[in-house]
Amino acid sequence: MTRIGILTGGGDAPGLNAVIRAAVKTAIHTYGFKVFGIRDGYDGFLDANGIVPLDLDAVRGILPRGGTILGTANRGNPFARKVVRDGVEVTIDVSDEIVEGISKLKLDALLVLGGDGTLRIAHELFQKGVPVIGVPKTIDNDIGGTEVTFGFDTALNIAMEAIDRLHTTAEAHHRVMVVELMGRDAGFIALHAGVAGGADVILIPEIPFNYEVVVKVVQARADRGSLFSIMAVSEGAKPVGGRQVIARKGDEMYVPRLGGIGQRVAEYIDEKGFESRVTVLGHLQRGGTPTAFDRWLATRFGAAAIRLAARGGHDRMVALRAGAIVDVPLEEALAVPRRIQPDEDGVITARNMGISFGDK
Ligand code: F6P
Repeated sequence: MTRIGILTGGGDAPGLNAVIRAAVKTAIHTYGFKVFGIRDGYDGFLDANGIVPLDLDAVRGILPRGGTILGTANRGNPFARKVVRDGVEVTIDVSDEIVEGISKLKLDALLVLGGDGTLRIAHELFQKGVPVIGVPKTIDNDIGGTEVTFGFDTALNIAMEAIDRLHTTAEAHHRVMVVELMGRDAGFIALHAGVAGGADVILIPEIPFNYEVVVKVVQARADRGSLFSIMAVSEGAKPVGGRQVIARKGDEMYVPRLGGIGQRVAEYIDEKGFESRVTVLGHLQRGGTPTAFDRWLATRFGAAAIRLAARGGHDRMVALRAGAIVDVPLEEALAVPRRIQPDEDGVITARNMGISFGDK
């Protein structure tokens, strides 16, 4: 009988459980496959209790739940694991143990639900003979090969609601409200939520900004009688010629954690005489129930991943292109990350609306 493994790796995103549910239901109802869940990303292969059978009972009721019933890990790179040996911290490669765990389980396909890092590991494991299939997940929407990832729609709706709420208090107090949003090196959450929420300034990593230009926007609004302003700032935004603000340095295990640019922008504006406050939305953007769009996309991805497994398509990723679910080579998806193009329709539309990117 065909045996399928499923794991979720990297930061969680709303819709992971919807993918798991769709994959399990499709595997059982349509093909009669046996499905196993791997706990906490690739780590589950190293743990005696890391493998759990996934039947219809196991996925009942999980569609509206955020997080992942399997657990996840964003420091689980099997090719670079930090361990303490004889009191000294060393980095070791445990990928062979992972491959051994996978072959012991006799998997015909391993569905890897992850972002850039987790999918890159999947592609490397394929070079070692593991039959991987990728499912693109991230609130950042920064994976190549697909027009959108699940989790993004939920995150941007949360961000939009936050901007709506900040509007009312900003107006009441005649303040500048800066909201710092996630997205790492991609500005999709800030751009989409900023436009959807009617922000006055949107700062994104793809368009470096100038502090003085940002202040001029606030001044111009005040001159027109609008004594408050709303700014949607990506955590990865940076000033022209400057650097991103890093909250925690990266190493072999962790990517650098971004954070703090919102505070800097708010302080600068405040010093120029416009009372400002900052809200860092943080992990609220990743929590809670997925939107209908994310449930729909996640369900289609989950079912399509099993259909791909049934066809024996490995080292590929399910993707959304022109409204249809397709599959693309993992290598192609990982070659170029998705970023906002400064001349794309969304940016032009925002500029048409008088929204400033702080660059001119
Ligand atoms: O990639 C998803 C994401 O939420 C980013 O937007 C953010 O920079 C990062 O993960 C936060 O990671 P952590 O959960 O490790 O704080």
